[in-house]
Amino acid sequence: MAVHRILVGIVGAGPAGLLLGHLLQRAGIESVTVDIRSERHVIERVRAGVLEQTTVDLLREAGLGARLAVEGLRHEGLYLAFGGERHRLDLADLTCGRAITVYGQNEIVRDLIAARRAAGGRILFDAGHVALSDLDTDRPRLHVRTADADDTFACDYIAGCDGFHGISRASIPPSALRVYEHVHPYTWLGILAQAAPASPELVYCLHDDGFALFSMRSTGVTRLYLQCASDERLDAWPDDRIWRELRARLQMHDGWVPNEGPILQKGLTGMRSFVVEPMRAGRLFLAGDAAHIVPPTGAKGLNLAVADVWRLARALDERYRTGSDAGLDAYSDAGLRRTWRAQRFSCWMTSLLHRSEGATDFDRRRQLADLDYLVHSRAAMTSLAENYVGFPLA
Ligand code: FAD
Ligand code: PHB
Repeated sequence: MAVHRILVGIVGAGPAGLLLGHLLQRAGIESVTVDIRSERHVIERVRAGVLEQTTVDLLREAGLGARLAVEGLRHEGLYLAFGGERHRLDLADLTCGRAITVYGQNEIVRDLIAARRAAGGRILFDAGHVALSDLDTDRPRLHVRTADADDTFACDYIAGCDGFHGISRASIPPSALRVYEHVHPYTWLGILAQAAPASPELVYCLHDDGFALFSMRSTGVTRLYLQCASDERLDAWPDDRIWRELRARLQMHDGWVPNEGPILQKGLTGMRSFVVEPMRAGRLFLAGDAAHIVPPTGAKGLNLAVADVWRLARALDERYRTGSDAGLDAYSDAGLRRTWRAQRFSCWMTSLLHRSEGATDFDRRRQLADLDYLVHSRAAMTSLAENYVGFPLA
């Protein structure tokens, strides 16, 4: 078995791990990134679509903005719909010109892999086995088995970017972590359809049957979600039932309704809130979904992952340039502050827009009053808008 010396070992080649490798490489810091899945699987996984202004600015400054500038769809507003009416929130007007951009997570991953390859970066996909050891020493080890070799990387630092089900967080003794968790009592059924988006901006909708979301991926592909029961099965949802339910929830009194077309992909997503504290154990730093999960209603998960690795790359750069540990020591507290703010916003958006099984008539009327206040108060709209477009990196 070969033992290699490397400055930073990165576990996971999702958006967090790939972007970290890219930012480190631009700072002249050598890393290796490993993933248990294939390159194709990592690229094709359909997930996030909404990028905060901060994320777009960071990707552009990191030299990753070329395709994003051409194919990304900048949205300066969004709709909240209830009672059969759509109400537009002018995000740009409410936030001094900030906006969101719709650009699929898989496109970001594709851009990042191309950039890492062009720079000669090392990414090992299809690892049959990945493990960490020596985490309580100053030379933690990353062990990787692929079809070709068995390698051990002796690292200065390890970044755990391996998502909610990865091994990084699980390698830390439970007594060193505090876990906060809430499972929301519903799932989202999501589809991609070959249909031109019927609105240029997203529509978040509360209906008596539950939440529905109209989104998109490109000028030819619509993305739609429906709130379902937590024990829902995909085979109970043939295409015609999905369209019937989408029509029932999203059709507006003015006749607006999403365009329909062949369903290209469908899947169920659980709704979980999860935070682990601290985001660090010795020289292992957790980033992205490995450290926190938010329900997707606020469109924050990918954006939080980007903010984490920006901060980690900056702290490692400071460490190697000046010898100071200040940034690394502040990493967890700064990340948790941003995470809890996103958690608060995502839980609030979720409860504002979903129907709970045990909700009383009183709960339903109060929920509608919340929405009515929101779309008629500039103060309330501004609060939603500044959270949705995202706060500056810190
Ligand atoms: P992941 O994307 O999960 O990547 C982790 C990587 O680690 C994977 O490639 C995995 O194969 C690898 N891995 C796992 N285990 C191991 C191991 N043992 N060893 C090595 N590698 C391992 N966020 C937004 O900001 N905006 C949105 O609009 C949005 N919409 C969403 C819609 C849906 C339906 C879903 C499911 C999520 C959405 N999110 C959204 C959340 C977003 O997709 C995630 O927060 C984001 O993928 C987190 O990136 P990550 O790199 O931390 O983790
Ligand atoms: C998406 O387009 O996939 C999407 C948009 C907004 C969300 C979540 C997901 O809040």
